[in-house]
Amino acid sequence: MLRRLHPDQPESFAFTPANLAWAEGQITKYPEGRQASAIIPLLWRAQEQEGWLTRPAIEAVADMLDMAYIRALEVASFYFMFQLQPVGSVAHIQICGTTSCMICGAEDLIAVCQEKIAAKPHVVSADGKFSWEEVECLGSCTNAPMAQIGKDYYEDLTAEKFGQLIDELAAGKVPTPGPQNGRYGAEPLSGLTSLTEYDSGRTQYNASVQLAADIGDTVKRIDGTEVPLLTPWLKDAKAPATEKPKAKPAPKKAAEPEAEAEAGDKPATLDAARDGKADDLKMIKGVGPKLEGVLNDIGIFHYDQIAAWTEAEVAWADQNLVGFKGRVSRDDWVAQAKLLATGEETEFAKRAKEDGTYEEDT
Ligand code: FES
Repeated sequence: MLRRLHPDQPESFAFTPANLAWAEGQITKYPEGRQASAIIPLLWRAQEQEGWLTRPAIEAVADMLDMAYIRALEVASFYFMFQLQPVGSVAHIQICGTTSCMICGAEDLIAVCQEKIAAKPHVVSADGKFSWEEVECLGSCTNAPMAQIGKDYYEDLTAEKFGQLIDELAAGKVPTPGPQNGRYGAEPLSGLTSLTEYDSGRTQYNASVQLAADIGDTVKRIDGTEVPLLTPWLKDAKAPATEKPKAKPAPKKAAEPEAEAEAGDKPATLDAARDGKADDLKMIKGVGPKLEGVLNDIGIFHYDQIAAWTEAEVAWADQNLVGFKGRVSRDDWVAQAKLLATGEETEFAKRAKEDGTYEEDT
């Protein structure tokens, strides 16, 4: 199946204050320079907010993580959990069509979807409430055939039972997920045949179904009103954001110093290279031609300037070399520059001089 951006896209995207606070908390889980690791949770949250993943949402998340739009789009289009087209307002239904489910009646379930929702997958029903698709094995093969509706599994389905479930959801009811034929989890329908001593004292439903039943809403999307995911290393971890959602920031120019950044102290700079001759900063591992240009633009021309950077100045440089966050500490520029400033050569500089290749600015 081709996974492309939908032709009709909204104008813009902004996280709600609660979701923005959550997203910003997620980003702090990763070290400086590695914020892109938060891409999947942030895209998922954007999808939970909107129902599907829009182009403005993908771009807004990319901006938050200092990623090129194409990199975020690659992630969004690779994983099938991301819906790149509008879905039903109540639920997007995923029918497992792999071996066990196919043998046990997946095609009958698909026929129900075609009759009640839309003839083709990824098309929203006439009332706007549902959409459907066939997916690969969802790991519930012992309870085939099954469907994922919202966040829960509905298992041991028949076409009739499945049709009733859709009708109940359409009427605003919350059918209980899990096996629909009365069995407990994946246990035998006739009851336990072994480990029977564990039969007493358990919850009414198996664990995930019990949780869904306790929450009382199996298709509700995460919207920030749940118990917030704590980020105890942040001072105000429990406080929801109160500011308005941020509008999508204007795209940054690559390698442009960030004027508003606050972290650290800006190092001393020069108006021009001494005697008009700058050091070859590309001899520092982590500095490529593009980044050397950025450094020169802000007044850094010499090894000894970098060698003298304090911790606060390194923090500033880590934060402010847009597109290269965290690069300074990652490659320990200060230690490298100290050696180079005294005329010594680092292993990297030796290699770079010999074969004329520098670090890529990526
Ligand atoms: S084959 Fe359907 S869940 Fe595995």
